[in-house]
Amino acid sequence: MLKIENMHSGYKDVPVLREVSLFAGENEIIGVVGSNGAGKTTLLKTIMGLIHPTAGKIEFRGEDIASLGTHQISDLGLGLVFEGRRLFTGMTIVENLMVGGGTKRTKPYRRDKMAEVFDLFPILKERRKQLAGSLSGGEQQMLAIARSLMGCPKLLMIDEVSLGLAPRVVESIYEMLNVIKKADMTLIVVEQNINLCLNFADRAYVMENGRIVAEGGGKELLQDRGIRDKYMGIKPLSDAERGA
Ligand SMILES: Nc1ncnc2c1ncn2[C@@H]1O[C@H](COP(=O)(O)OP(=O)(O)OP(=O)(O)O)[C@@H](O)[C@H]1O
Ligand SMILES: [Mg+2]
Repeated sequence: MLKIENMHSGYKDVPVLREVSLFAGENEIIGVVGSNGAGKTTLLKTIMGLIHPTAGKIEFRGEDIASLGTHQISDLGLGLVFEGRRLFTGMTIVENLMVGGGTKRTKPYRRDKMAEVFDLFPILKERRKQLAGSLSGGEQQMLAIARSLMGCPKLLMIDEVSLGLAPRVVESIYEMLNVIKKADMTLIVVEQNINLCLNFADRAYVMENGRIVAEGGGKELLQDRGIRDKYMGIKPLSDAERGA
């Protein structure tokens, strides 16, 4: 689905990503974790064509997308939910969703898609005439995800899924993501909450200073002593605890 090889990227005079290689298969959930400033958002922005790589390859479903613009990339079936959500706060839920499904490619399916999205997020249906800016943080995150789904992506990337949300809200959003996954979609999920992310992801990548420093199965990385120690401030499991 997505294949990145030895990719470098950054901003004007600020190189950020170095030698990043990553892949995501069909229907996989990929987690990307790492501390503040590691380059996670920069990675998603580069994939989405908001900035362009200075070296290396990005292929989506076999097509080289490294030099394409965001609209073209989105038309190919890639979607991004931004960190901070970026909703149209002065517009209602329905209006936000209409915009999300408003491209030439998706317009014909917009009504059906909205019904689907409302099934997935009943709370958004209940409040469909409410302004996005007046929704709670959790509802706004749901709307941001729902708006991206209106673009019928094959691969959806979500930046900072749980940021600023209460644990119960986070739980319900992750339940939703599990449903989405079953609907034939690949997910790339960026999270500050490493424990949550690694538990949820099929595979995950750990970033540090613009590089991928570890990769593996989500649960496998969760058991990794180095990672537990460094990123979670949790003491490594003793041999007895691990049942060794
Ligand atoms: N527009 C920009 N111009 C210049 N440098 C930037 C820009 N945006 C981000 N950076 C720099 O790129 C590096 C990586 O930032 P990025 O936002 O990708 O990190 P992140 O892993 O998403 O962090 P966080 O967890 O805080 O969201 C940081 O050093 C940051 O200062
Ligand atoms: Mg970020």
